[in-house]
Amino acid sequence: MQAITIRQPGGPEVLEWTEAPDPTPKSGEVLVTVAATAVNRADLLQRQGFYPPPKGASEILGLECSGTIAALGEGVENWAVGDEVCALLAGGGYAQKVAVPAEQLLPLPKNVDLVAAAGLPEVVCTVWSTVVQTAGLNAGHVLLVHGGAGGIGTCAIQIGKALQTTVIVTAGSDERLKLCRELGADVTINYKTQDFVEEVKKATDGHGADVVLDNMGASYLDRNIDVLAMDGRVVNIGMQGGVKGELNIGKLMAKRGGVLSAGLRARPITGKGSKADIVKDVRERLWPLVEAGAVKPIIGRTLPMAQAAEAHRALEASDVFGKVVLTA
Ligand SMILES: NC(=O)c1ccc[n+]([C@@H]2O[C@H](COP(=O)([O-])OP(=O)(O)OC[C@H]3O[C@@H](n4cnc5c(N)ncnc54)[C@H](OP(=O)(O)O)[C@@H]3O)[C@@H](O)[C@H]2O)c1
Repeated sequence: MQAITIRQPGGPEVLEWTEAPDPTPKSGEVLVTVAATAVNRADLLQRQGFYPPPKGASEILGLECSGTIAALGEGVENWAVGDEVCALLAGGGYAQKVAVPAEQLLPLPKNVDLVAAAGLPEVVCTVWSTVVQTAGLNAGHVLLVHGGAGGIGTCAIQIGKALQTTVIVTAGSDERLKLCRELGADVTINYKTQDFVEEVKKATDGHGADVVLDNMGASYLDRNIDVLAMDGRVVNIGMQGGVKGELNIGKLMAKRGGVLSAGLRARPITGKGSKADIVKDVRERLWPLVEAGAVKPIIGRTLPMAQAAEAHRALEASDVFGKVVLTA
């Protein structure tokens, strides 16, 4: 098969469309003929050599894909050759074929195109598992989403609205904020020119945010606590603003607040806190919202997989609204 490989850690130019060995599905896995994959920020770090795949995962980039089941490994039930699916991956998506644990498969939702579906698994599983399962987002809450125009952000806006919350987002340009409003965001804040604590307080009559979905880490830690409502939760999923910050426990305690954090890629396939549990819950509770059109893949750009370098450049330049999808 053809796949994107990394010649050496570095910039987008190190990505090469080359011949690679076909994967073989192990027991409990299926082989998927990939229609498309999608680019995640983690891919940029892995390309630079800062985010190695978890033990046993493919060295090839790609945390999600869509495609058609080509073969079943031993013991796989409830799936058949020819089924159209999308899948959460620990790696291996930037390729024409990938082997996936059956627990990480989702059926292609009705009304979603097979190529566009590649942009769903990583963002829906991340947002659902953190904002809903971990931080307990509920109808009537105020949800603050940092980076509302990104892949995760555009998904979080839609999930927040589908769950009847007030959604406030930050983004880096007025054009991107306008697109967030068109997607359903109630209040938008330009993080380059406005203070998000002040703006959220103003928009909520001083209440603040019940849940904050944070991509920045250290640089936003203190202000995320300032913006929290009583009993609020910050759920951190990224470190774009650094890994080490100072936590003012006094301020957090006064709000009975919580700072939570979770990663998806390194979770076990099955068992406690597993990908299987998240995928099952997403399929039961979120897939109906996807099939009803309330949560859609937001695809800012579609390119052939061989042009993965161009896709990485676009993501690095904040030149995409939503996801970049790469077709095999
Ligand atoms: N923990 C997990 O399991 C998990 C899973 C998936 C993703 N993530 C993390 O989630 C984050 C988003 O991922 P993605 O794939 O959606 O990436 P993406 O599409 O590249 O989005 C990155 C976002 O960061 C925003 N941003 C940059 N500087 C900012 C600032 N100072 N304040 C607020 N926002 C800022 C950008 O906003 P503008 O473009 O508008 O400037 C952009 O929307 C990344 O940090 C990623 O590593 C974590």
